[in-house]
Amino acid sequence: MCGIVGYVGNSQAAPILLDGLSKLEYRGYDSAGIAVYDGEKIHAQKACGRLKVLSELTHDGATMPGTAGIGHTRWATHGAPTGSNAHPHFNQDESIAVVHNGIIENYQKLKKYLEGKGFQFVSDTDTEVVAHLLDYYYKEDPMEAILRVMNRVEGSYALGIMFKSHPGVLYAVRKDSPLIVGHGGDGNLIASDVPAVLKYTRNVYFIQNEEIAVLSGESISFYNVDGEEIAKEPSTIDWDINAAEKGGYEHFMLKEMYEQPQTVRDTLSPRIKGGMVDIEELGMSDEEIRGIGRLHIIACGSAYHTGMTAKYIFEGMARIPVDVDLASEFRYRNPILAENDLVIIISQSGETADSLAALREAKSRGIKTLGIVNVVGSSIAREADKVMYTWAGPEIAVATTKAYSAQLIAEYLLAIKFAQVRGEITEQQVVSYLKDLQKLPEQIEMLLSNKGKIQHFANRYISAKDVFFVGRGIDYAISLEGSLKLKEISYIHSEAYAAGELKHGTISLIEEGTLVASVLTQEELYKKTISNIVELKSRGAFVLAVTNTGNTEIEKAADYVIYIPQTNRWFTNSLAIIPLQLFSYYVAVGKGCDVDKPRNLAKSVTVE
Ligand code: AGP
Repeated sequence: MCGIVGYVGNSQAAPILLDGLSKLEYRGYDSAGIAVYDGEKIHAQKACGRLKVLSELTHDGATMPGTAGIGHTRWATHGAPTGSNAHPHFNQDESIAVVHNGIIENYQKLKKYLEGKGFQFVSDTDTEVVAHLLDYYYKEDPMEAILRVMNRVEGSYALGIMFKSHPGVLYAVRKDSPLIVGHGGDGNLIASDVPAVLKYTRNVYFIQNEEIAVLSGESISFYNVDGEEIAKEPSTIDWDINAAEKGGYEHFMLKEMYEQPQTVRDTLSPRIKGGMVDIEELGMSDEEIRGIGRLHIIACGSAYHTGMTAKYIFEGMARIPVDVDLASEFRYRNPILAENDLVIIISQSGETADSLAALREAKSRGIKTLGIVNVVGSSIAREADKVMYTWAGPEIAVATTKAYSAQLIAEYLLAIKFAQVRGEITEQQVVSYLKDLQKLPEQIEMLLSNKGKIQHFANRYISAKDVFFVGRGIDYAISLEGSLKLKEISYIHSEAYAAGELKHGTISLIEEGTLVASVLTQEELYKKTISNIVELKSRGAFVLAVTNTGNTEIEKAADYVIYIPQTNRWFTNSLAIIPLQLFSYYVAVGKGCDVDKPRNLAKSVTVE
């Protein structure tokens, strides 16, 4: 996820671009750049690191005169965060400049095609392909070039484009990535999100998919994908800047929960080609996959919980033995590793000290390593032999939600691919699994729309002293994450137990009215867990059940039931965790906790 801005009008563009980018840094901040037309050519200045580096380089924009420009703050997806990979990107003669938020899924194919035509690339990004493709199609009419590019590229994009041949005009195009147009008093603007324009205008046009906006200082016009002009009505934004950065949500955590459907799509869809899993990016041969003896999944916190889920799936679906370890334990226990093992390190930040140390421990023994990481260019991403990015965009809230969901998707795809290559599942099964995965975004959306009911239930537990989460199999892994979410943002004591463990001691903790959240998404284990629920009830517990639609049997045992839509048993974590995230969020909000920045915690634990 990145942030794009553009301005054209009577004022100097550069300071406005920098100001707009500063309001979009929550969308990405590993590098930034602006391009301004100075009357003769399009000047660009890019910088690695936070936006302030760019501001200092350009003396807050003073070194870049001109009244039309575009800018970008980057969250790297393709190409490490470097100056050359920072946007804007140009065609060869620098007559076309482009900024982009999104993922061009067929960029390698297009890059090869253009290189075959003699185009030379200077970056590793997918975006640079757009600049050269515009050049390739451009004759005299920017719109015609834009429409032809839209026909060729696949994936998601919000583009800001300048043509030297058409000074004082900005072009903006949207498909799947957010894009707005601001109609200001002394100029017009484009941006990825409202916060970037609020200082200049509250009159905003929301661009829909496959629409094009053409802005000059005096006018704004809109076109559809057939090049026909269309009429659009502006909206008036009444948010304040702070609320706007959170997209109108009260907290980043809630905003990021609501980004989970898109995060799942972004992590999933580029890796489905021809109805099969495509993880070419890992460069793992079938022989290599067949040769894996054992998987060691190493992580911390929520990432570890996704690893617990993955264990059941890799073993159940791909029949590969799996050990899952907390990184802080793995790194000191002199683990037994065989040369044909694969160590998988899961980390949102890619900087967690224990996880990085575990990676280095595995590498020091010559074991192949794979990182499942969200931050491009982070230490774990750079040092692992292979990396599979989760493309969740920047996750600001300390309590992970969207990155957690993206990690699950990455693990599902790996397990399906490994199972198919090792002959454990058929192509038909792969097709069926992928169909289930592609339904997850709208199923998550449906669960999120349930927030009112969950908020109402959560309000009953803001004074709770202890809350327990129980489940079996994957439901135990889900319980671990549900419990951690509640603990870390509401500070309420909570534990997750394998439901079968209750009678081995922990059921002594149950008192009258103790809340126990039981997760039942594994059909073959329903009856076992229901009998645990009966035991809990008989000792006074209040039982919340999270279970699959259709499991009405549970109504007889539990006090409060939340149903999740039907999906394949391997993928239920992606759905069951949604109500548990919402429950924890609303308990924390009800307690007046600092949800985005819980006490004693940091977003990335870069020290032991
Ligand atoms: C989860 O909500 C916490 N923020 C924490 O457990 C986190 O998952 C853990 O610190 C691992 O972080 P990483 O994914 O960046 O390595």
